[in-house]
Amino acid sequence: MADCRICGGVLTEFYDFGRQPLSDAFLEPDNLEGEFFFRLAVGLCSDCTMVQLMEEVPRDKMFHEDYPYFSSGSSVMRKHFELTARKFLETELTGPDPFIVEIGCNDGIMLKTAAEAGVKHLGVEPSGGVGEVARSKGIRVRTAFFEESTAVEVAKEEGHADVIFAANTICHIPYMDSIFRGIDALLKPNGVFVFEDPYLGDINQRTSFDQIYDEHYYLFTARSVQAMARKFGFDLVDVERYPVHGGEVRYTIARAGAREASPAVAELIAEEDAAGLATLPTLEAFGAKVTKIKEDLVALLTKLREEGKTVVAYGATAKSATVANLCGLSSDLVSFVCDTTPQKQNRVTPGTHIPVRNPEAFSNPYPDYALLFAWNHAEEIMAKEKAFREAGGKWILYVPEVHVL
Ligand code: SAM
Ligand code: TMP
Ligand code: ZN
Repeated sequence: MADCRICGGVLTEFYDFGRQPLSDAFLEPDNLEGEFFFRLAVGLCSDCTMVQLMEEVPRDKMFHEDYPYFSSGSSVMRKHFELTARKFLETELTGPDPFIVEIGCNDGIMLKTAAEAGVKHLGVEPSGGVGEVARSKGIRVRTAFFEESTAVEVAKEEGHADVIFAANTICHIPYMDSIFRGIDALLKPNGVFVFEDPYLGDINQRTSFDQIYDEHYYLFTARSVQAMARKFGFDLVDVERYPVHGGEVRYTIARAGAREASPAVAELIAEEDAAGLATLPTLEAFGAKVTKIKEDLVALLTKLREEGKTVVAYGATAKSATVANLCGLSSDLVSFVCDTTPQKQNRVTPGTHIPVRNPEAFSNPYPDYALLFAWNHAEEIMAKEKAFREAGGKWILYVPEVHVL
């Protein structure tokens, strides 16, 4: 039995997704040998309430030179991170020698705005390929995993930071003890550590179970983040909700006693407690809804195949590995997945080996149905693909339940 990665408490497993591949490991169709699998299951810590994976995948298997997720592929996300950077420039970065560090800067989607404003910045990014794209935009990047030793080196070479930011990255990192020691080493006395990740409250409400995959080690709540921050000598001083990626919370963390907490923190924790969010009955009910979605989606796709309808999927997301492998999808039910990322095209999906094609393949000719794997970008994609609906095509969504639009 696994122990809680934060506090060492007892973990109770509440859902087992079975054997799953690395969610971002798109394979060459003629080289399918030796694919890595692990058991994807989630549990709740009865002490600190942190929801987390039962098994950890070694980080170098996930984040490396060929990591294929490029953040700047979505115009909505480009806007979101431009506003994020502007907000820091107007608030935390107005002192004499401002310095912002980003953990997991990817292709520079957020730091681009800081770099263009001429503010001292550094991205710490272990995946070489995406980091190189950031460098080509004039952003300073250190190719490394952020952890205590990296932070100590950065502080020595570059000085201390006013802001350490991370988006969709902290939930990827099991080793929080080393992260917080690193934050302590690198942050100015009154600096802030700000991170945003998919919120368990939204995941539970929408049954967006595909937010659970190898890279998403933690599913945070305000309560579990507050407990984590306190354990490591910090405090949660603000929370803000954002609609991106199906619902996220941005957590602001400061050294214990350094800043007064906003009332929003107590309010969100009270909301979580009233809903019984991180409790076994709620999470077991969530699990039952996941099983229902799986059964409904397989039944729908099987019926469409029997009726001779064509079905393709849209967006070769990391999330879709969970859905596709849980449902045992194959190119028999979903002919291919289209995706804008050149590094994913002409490969096959992890575990299920469905071909990935470029977006032009989508309209040539349009399928009868499109399974929207990138449901978190629904507005952007449906606007872009208006002609599909006009031609009689239908979207299939599976959160919060299986439905056809
Ligand atoms: N921040 C971007 C965004 O929100 O779109 C990128 C998110 S991407 C899902 C996660 C990123 O975290 C990857 O680029 C990965 O290489 C990076 N990463 C993983 N572990 C890390 C670590 N220990 N330190 C720094 N970056 C890490
Ligand atoms: P994400 O949900 O983790 O952000 O991944 C989105 C995936 O969908 C990524 O591989 C890029 C792809 N995508 C498209 O193919 N077309 C689009 O319009 C958008 C926004 C994303
Ligand atoms: Zn715990």
